[in-house]
Amino acid sequence: MYDLFSRYYQDIFPPGAAQLAFLREVARQVGACTFLDAGCATGAYTRAAASWGLAATGIDLEPAMIEEARSQGPPQVHYAVADLTALPFEDGSFDMVVCLGNTLAHVLEFASLQRALDGFGRVLSPRGALVLQLVNYHRVKADPEYVFPVLASTDGNVIFRRRYRRRGDGLYSFATSLQVGRQQVDGASPVRPWRQEEIIAALAPAGFSRWHSFGDFGRSSYSASASALGGTGRPPRTIAAGASRSPGQGSCLAGSGGARRDRRVTPAACRPGIAVG
Ligand SMILES: C[S@@+](CC[C@H](N)C(=O)[O-])C[C@H]1O[C@@H](n2cnc3c(N)ncnc32)[C@H](O)[C@@H]1O
Repeated sequence: MYDLFSRYYQDIFPPGAAQLAFLREVARQVGACTFLDAGCATGAYTRAAASWGLAATGIDLEPAMIEEARSQGPPQVHYAVADLTALPFEDGSFDMVVCLGNTLAHVLEFASLQRALDGFGRVLSPRGALVLQLVNYHRVKADPEYVFPVLASTDGNVIFRRRYRRRGDGLYSFATSLQVGRQQVDGASPVRPWRQEEIIAALAPAGFSRWHSFGDFGRSSYSASASALGGTGRPPRTIAAGASRSPGQGSCLAGSGGARRDRRVTPAACRPGIAVG
């Protein structure tokens, strides 16, 4: 489905200011020098990390996304077509791994989710941090169908509609419709509505022993029952998780600090900053 959207992806999903501030703060806390954006689409967050001075790598399963990402440069950013459940990197290659924008919902089986999180843990350096962002499906699950607010580019030329429809097998069908001028392209793909406890259950065996949940990228408290669906007109809440074994150590971006041997993980956030039509 995403190959159809690569050309317009960034018009529909411009990087959010709150997301960028959150990621930059985590990078500062861990003293990150290297950054992996798993499921980077056209690489907006990968490029942002590079602009902060990090050696940034973006991977995506869709060649069209990576082609578009590469076309936007800059040349020092490394992009690759790769599967986040089979990361082609050496152990300890990255100080920060992010998997944003509900990308993990495209991983359909628990064993694959576990492989993804095992891989994130494996490629993280000892001081590394992981940030995950997922839709909060606690409330989505209550509804057989959920229609997202319409997204539009600032000039109104690109309009994106999305809905979830519950299937009989525990998955959702994620139906999309992209309209660009008079052109319209429809698509559908299955997604797995991972709940916070399932993510946390997979984080522990991957070596993450501590985590934090947030309700948004402004670090508000995560709450399953307060999650946004149900008439607020806002998009569903999401989960962001960050993990770190030794925040505060290192110095690419900011000062120094003492090493910590534990990992810290963090859930939860909505997607502020999107255009809601
Ligand atoms: C919803 S988009 C999110 C993109 C970006 N992270 C963001 O926050 O805007 C999900 C992306 O994950 C990619 N993707 C899905 N499954 C993947 C996998 N197994 N490995 C790598 N990328 C994957 C899709 O091609 C798509 O570009």
